[in-house]
Parts: sequence; structure tokens; C-alpha cells
Amino acid sequence: MATLVELLSHKRDGHAHGEGDIRRLISGFGAGELADYQMSAWLMAAYLRGLDERETLELTDAMLESGVVLELDDVPGTKVDKHSTGGVGDKVSIALAPLVASCGVPVPMVSGRGLGHTGGTLDKLEAIPGFRVDLSIDDYRRIVREVGTCMIGQTKEIAPADKRIYALRDVTATVESIPLITASILSKKLAEGIDALVLDVKVGRGAFMKDLDRARALAKSLVAVAARGGKGVSALLTDMDHPLGLTIGNALETAEALAILHGRGPADLVECTLALAAEMLVLGKVAPDVAAARVLAEKKIASGEAAETARRMIAAQHGDPRVVDDPSRLPRAPVVRPLVAARSGYVVDLDPLALGLAGVELGAGRTRAEQKVDPRVGLVLAATVGTRVSAGDTLVEVHAASDAQVDAIAPRVLAAFTLDDQSRARGPLVLETIRA
Ligand code: URA
Repeated sequence: MATLVELLSHKRDGHAHGEGDIRRLISGFGAGELADYQMSAWLMAAYLRGLDERETLELTDAMLESGVVLELDDVPGTKVDKHSTGGVGDKVSIALAPLVASCGVPVPMVSGRGLGHTGGTLDKLEAIPGFRVDLSIDDYRRIVREVGTCMIGQTKEIAPADKRIYALRDVTATVESIPLITASILSKKLAEGIDALVLDVKVGRGAFMKDLDRARALAKSLVAVAARGGKGVSALLTDMDHPLGLTIGNALETAEALAILHGRGPADLVECTLALAAEMLVLGKVAPDVAAARVLAEKKIASGEAAETARRMIAAQHGDPRVVDDPSRLPRAPVVRPLVAARSGYVVDLDPLALGLAGVELGAGRTRAEQKVDPRVGLVLAATVGTRVSAGDTLVEVHAASDAQVDAIAPRVLAAFTLDDQSRARGPLVLETIRA
């Protein structure tokens, strides 16, 4: 049998690993037989030489098996989750999980926090007074069984090998590898005890994947590896060349997401939520196709059952369920100031990265993992791509902790808007669908 160091040279020289080799590398890393610098060397070899589908699945399984798999066998039904690769204004999960659960598909969801210019579901949920994401595994299981959905944070026990490997990738220029990203995402998601997964792969300036070809390659890799691992799976490629919806910031985004459950909300956000819900309902086997699934989801919104599921989930997680109907119960910023258009015209472009970074600067996000977020602050867009404005009309409201904060970011927020005399339509939200 090859030694662990010989396995590094196999990948360095461009060979595919044999069955079990990657498992040995990951378990050797966990057991301290492979040092950080040796794992880093392997990561660079894998980055440069690639991993095929079988190797990527073995890496996924090995990282998954480095921790616990949350076992949900006592929850009846096909359990389905959604994972988004992250973007600006992406608050979809907060509406999607209760919506899909209200249609009879259990949604166990382990979510993340915001880092960099993209927000995280946990930070948004924690804007709800009292809401707790640090539940025990027993409570998580009970709430999924009783309510249909529960949204918690990643525990130390979930895929610990990924956590250590990601930290090495972050400082060795090996993050942007499609097989390594695939294994990293899937090892964490498959640890939730799900039967199927819908992926929202964001594409554009506000996303991790800036261009369609790379995003498509990632989506195909995620779908192929999850399917090979025996899971139901599909992926939507969705536009992140503009922010999603009209709000950026935790309490503001939570309010916007909850409004969807009352049948309100900006068209792009509603479309993203319903398109993902439809995929989940088909994989969850409660609808024969996406058209029927959308009708079912719309019915549950109209009947109030989706909003009721959200109230029950929030109450079960120690939060104030009255926020579902009364968003004024969410924390509010002490300063709210409009920024206005200097000229008349159509908004033809909105830079999501600039707006996401402005949100971080206000305190809605973090630049280091240990930072705390301010749930109150953020941006509310009064105009989006396609809106016609006159000089002096409000483009965006800044919700801030102080006037000084608004003064500091106002020029950059305004610079994120491009106005022109000619209107330009925004392209479709869902760019492609990739199924197994
Ligand atoms: N998100 C992850 O969880 N892992 C990656 O490697 C990249 C994005």
C-alpha cells in the first residue's frame, strides 16, 4: 500500500487516486498522521491536477464521515434542503423553509453566517427577538418532526475535516477549485440527514462565481456528485449581477422575506423563492412537476399555511412569532436617511458588490469571523434596475447607527447606481436549470 506521502506524489504527477486513497488522506489528516503542510501540498496538487467525479465523491464522503451525520429517520417524508452559494440580498431561505414545509416536505436546514460582502441566514434569523440557532440535535430533530422545518447553525461536530481544510485553502490560494468546493459544500449539507438537495448557484458580480461558464461547471459538479451519492438533486443558476430584492441588512431582509409568506415582495425575490420551492417540492415527491409544484406553493401562501408554519418554527426556536405579521417588532436603526438621485433617468445598473460592502461597513456583515453584526442597519432600495426617477427622488434609504455612518458611505452607495436616459431591462432571474 502506498504511503501518505506517495499519495501526494500521485496527485502531483496528475494520476487519479485509487479507491480508498482519499479516505486514507482525510482520516490520516484527522489522526495527525498528515500535517497541515502536507495537506496543503495535496490541496495544491488537487487544485492544479483536478479530481474526477469518483474522487470528488470520495472526498465528500470522507469529510462527511469526519463528523456526525444528523440522523432524521424518525421524520416521515422525503427531507429536502436548499443551499445557496451566496449573494447580496439573498434572504430566500427564511421564506422558503416554512413555505416548503407547509406543503408537506420536511426541511432540515443547517445554515451559515455572513462573511465578506454576502449575508448569512443565521444572522438574519437572529434579528428576530429571542430566536435561537444553537439548539441541541434532539431539539432540531423534534422541531423538524413537529413543525416541518428547523434552521440551526453548523455545529463543531459537522464535517470537522472541511473546517480545517477550508482554513488551509483560504491561505494557500486553493479555494477556487470546483472539485474542492463541491466536496466542501456537499459534505456539510449531506450531514443534515437529507434525502435531496436543491442548489442555488449564484452568478454575477455579487457572487462567488462571476461568470456563467464557471457557475455552470460548479452546478454540474455538485449535481453529479450528489446524485452519485444517492441523493435527489437539482441546481438553478440564478442572477447575482444585481442584489436580490430591495433590502440588504439583517432585520430589513428578514422582514422582506417574511412578507413573501403574505403574498407580497419584489418580483425577483418572489420568483427566486417560488422557483426553488418548486424544485424542492418535486424532489420531495409532493408534486409531479414544477408547474404543479408552483401552484401548490402559491396555494399555501394564499391560505396562510406558509405564514403559520413560519410562526410555529419561530416560536419553537424561542423567537417572537408576532414578527411574521408585524415587522415593526424587529430591531430598527436609530437613523434612517434617504439618498437622492442627482439627475433624472432610468436606473440601468446596480452594483451588488458595492452595496454588499456598504452593508458590511454599516455593520450588517463582517470581515472577520469573530465580529458581531448590528441587526438594525442596512439599505432599502427605493429604485432598482428599470425604475424611472426624477432628480431629487429617493434612490435608497440608509438605515444606520449614526449620522456619521451615513455620511461615510453615502458617496459609495450612490456610486453603485448607474442612471441613463434609455431604459435597459434586467435579464431573467433563473438563467439555467441543471438536473441529475
Ligand atoms: N462554500 C463552502 O462551503 N466551501 C467552499 O469551498 C466554497 C464555498
